Amino acid sequence: MKPMISRPTGPLAGVFAVPGDKSISHRALILGASAVGETAIRGLLEAEDVLATAEAMRRLGAEVSRSGEGWRIFGRGVGGLAEPDSVLDMGNSGTGARLVIGLVASHPFTTFFCGDASLSARPMNRVIEPLRRVGATFWSRSGGRLPLAVGGAADPLPIVYSLPVASAQVKSAILFAALNAPGRTTVIEPLPTRDHTEAMLSHFGAEVETETLADGGRRITLVGQPELTGREVVVPGDISSAAFPLVAASLVPGSRVTLRNVGINPLRTGLLETLGDMGARISVTDRRVEAGEPVADLIVEASSLGGVEVPAGRVPAMIDEFPVLAVAAACANGVTRMHGLAELRVKESDRLAAMARGLTACGVRVETGDDWLVVHGAGGAPPGGGEVAVDMDHRIAMAFLVLGMASRAPVRIDDAEPIATSFPSFVASMNGLGARTEEPPAT
Ligand code: S3P
Repeated sequence: MKPMISRPTGPLAGVFAVPGDKSISHRALILGASAVGETAIRGLLEAEDVLATAEAMRRLGAEVSRSGEGWRIFGRGVGGLAEPDSVLDMGNSGTGARLVIGLVASHPFTTFFCGDASLSARPMNRVIEPLRRVGATFWSRSGGRLPLAVGGAADPLPIVYSLPVASAQVKSAILFAALNAPGRTTVIEPLPTRDHTEAMLSHFGAEVETETLADGGRRITLVGQPELTGREVVVPGDISSAAFPLVAASLVPGSRVTLRNVGINPLRTGLLETLGDMGARISVTDRRVEAGEPVADLIVEASSLGGVEVPAGRVPAMIDEFPVLAVAAACANGVTRMHGLAELRVKESDRLAAMARGLTACGVRVETGDDWLVVHGAGGAPPGGGEVAVDMDHRIAMAFLVLGMASRAPVRIDDAEPIATSFPSFVASMNGLGARTEEPPAT
């Protein structure tokens, strides 16, 4: 455990280097390992979650190395992975675990998975259920939790599957399994979720079709057993990591920060929309497309925010941004109501509970239900002064360090170590803008 204190700060200013997108980094490694020939990745996120996926690809037989300019993978081709000779440890990463479970479900060998205490508590039945239909066999702890073993299908089947919850991880697990199944596999999602898997499958040479449905959902179809060929991949900056300096600079009076090279895929920009509704001053400049993903620079200046209503339909486009949105809401004028948050209860922690507990400890009034959160904004700096248990959750840790920057008294978190799963340079980068986040003095 590494406690950390975040003190109220003066204006934040400067240019912020946003680390690579975590979702896109996992997918680039997995598809690089599934392609024939060399894949070169620039901008890969070098954080624990992604490094666990890189190691899993090595153990499945791909050649994965870090070179001067980036990462290189020599893949095994679709269906060409080899049985790992030890357990794949996916650490804290739900995305890594679910995507790789999907990948091996259509390979005729057995793969064992484990993870840390947080990952071992997370539901895997959501991938086990559809992957059984593909033909895989599973042995897991009760409730479909890790550690688990996957007996991959020798003759995988194409399936048609309607997702019971909008989840890009489950969609991607099925599509990765479908790579080695003959025929067409179709996934239907109730609301559109991030489409990095579909975009990257096309980039590597697969045939993927997406159809928008009358009810707002999507139907995604992949033609199985494609020839995937090694490619160059450029990973944009992660908007889910950019969210923290974005909110911090919006809240701390007098701030002005530039965030370069941020991925702005429309299925990821719900936070920009919500902060816009709250009155944030964010300009999106130099819009461009890099390796099939839209990218821009964001310039954010402090402003006074107002409470808003966040509709359930927007949740998938900002699923990971609620902890830091709750911090923005805590400083806003008026009440913010967030709906459709059931999935937050099964993230790296029960984020709904962690947010409510942490905000309450910092003098902010909140109300919660099964799937909603109401935050009563302080109309400026909230009291702060609390100690927050981060529960092995990187985004809870970073969100409450941001709260400390904008509060009247410092905020302390019990453990900054989980931050390394997605954003190892977070504290140094924020302090580079003028934040005062540090380890507490020894007592
Ligand atoms: C992710 C999808 C989301 C998100 C996670 C990354 C992905 O999870 O919370 O951090 O890369 O596909 P769900 O698909 O389970 O909502």
